[in-house]
Amino acid sequence: MANVAVIGSQWGDEGKGKIVDWLSSRADVVVRFQGGHNAGHTLVIDGKVYKLHLLPSGIVRQGKISIIGNGTVIDPWALVKEMDSVRAQGVELTPENLKIAENAPLILPIHSALDAAAEAARGNRAIGTTGRGIGPAYEDKIARRSLRVCDLEYPEVVQQKLERMMFHHNALLRGFGAEEMSADDIFDQLMDVRDKILPYMAVTWKILADAHKAGKRILFEGAQGMMLDVDHGTYPYVTSSNMAAGQAATGAGVAPDAVGYVLGITKAYTTRVGAGPFPTEQDNDVGQFLGERGHEFGTTTGRKRRCGWFDAVAVRQAIKLGGIKGVALTKLDVLDGLDEIKVCTAYELDGEVIDYLPASQVKQAAVKPVYETIKGWSETSAGARSWAELPAAAVKYVKYIEELIGTPVTLLSTSPERDDTILMHDPFEV
Ligand code: IMP
Repeated sequence: MANVAVIGSQWGDEGKGKIVDWLSSRADVVVRFQGGHNAGHTLVIDGKVYKLHLLPSGIVRQGKISIIGNGTVIDPWALVKEMDSVRAQGVELTPENLKIAENAPLILPIHSALDAAAEAARGNRAIGTTGRGIGPAYEDKIARRSLRVCDLEYPEVVQQKLERMMFHHNALLRGFGAEEMSADDIFDQLMDVRDKILPYMAVTWKILADAHKAGKRILFEGAQGMMLDVDHGTYPYVTSSNMAAGQAATGAGVAPDAVGYVLGITKAYTTRVGAGPFPTEQDNDVGQFLGERGHEFGTTTGRKRRCGWFDAVAVRQAIKLGGIKGVALTKLDVLDGLDEIKVCTAYELDGEVIDYLPASQVKQAAVKPVYETIKGWSETSAGARSWAELPAAAVKYVKYIEELIGTPVTLLSTSPERDDTILMHDPFEV
């Protein structure tokens, strides 16, 4: 029986929440494997809206195990707040259905302070981070300074590690001209929150190994998107984790062959939040149209998203790098009513046509999209639940995208509602 990993194939915000929720009905375990509460996954179920940031999307369904894997970074206060807010919406959370990796690193108040100080220091080259401390928390992990969930059991370890960490970071804050922070204050705050986290701590790699062995279906839930991958994205305008399918294995704690089918969530056009290269951006009426029709505001920060045409070059690259086998195409209905639609099929750089996005930030800023224009449709595709209900030109658009990216569209989403989905192949059965 196959497992499925869901990853974003653009700059995030592709509509992963809905697809993961939809797929989680077929899964037994749902695991987040990278990122933190910088993510925002919106689920709409029977008209009720759930906004999740770190909790796996499986949490809103009964009888599933949701795991926050070791590859994530966890802000314990934000997590407790999120847990309280979904509980208030009637979702049951217990140590039986929510498990937090004992080896996941924590995001502390110092990390958000450093995120803000570093962004301010970057001036007009700021990345436009979500300000959640994600980058500095991953830096600490790699520098072997992190406090991890398992440390919360031992106050003396917390104290010791905090002192070492703050010795380092206060020197940085002084350098930035920012106010220093006290290890004792952070210690007290951690001692206040730990009893709300520790009951959920678990040996998650083992739970996953047992589930896999027992033939249970595992759904790996990615956040952000391949173009924000710290290795393969538009560096340095990226987040601080990897999104490729290999990370699903490392960040959940399973063998690579347990990851299974990789489904790339892909919006029928393109958006990005924050700064950085965006070859097909439409800073004009088209961008305005897409932003308004698509409600393109960040779930986490409320920022207006930049909008543009579909970029087949970027998605093709994401498919190859991410190990994507099939695509879930989302928000097709946003294109309803456009007379014509452009699709970027290649880039032009210094008079040459190229079929990939180079790594250099100079080249990334210089590439010009080469467009094909295709006919739009005036009928509505919103809410379609079968191919037959789609306007003929919309079907043609989907087929054209499939051809350009060389990968089948296995799922099509035509509204935020769970059931407005057209299934070509069930990823769990492929
Ligand atoms: P960070 O992850 O907060 O460090 O932000 C780094 C970059 O990634 C910024 O451009 C953010 O806007 C972007 N980013 C982070 N998380 C998401 C997400 O879930 N969706 C879209 N963009 C994101």
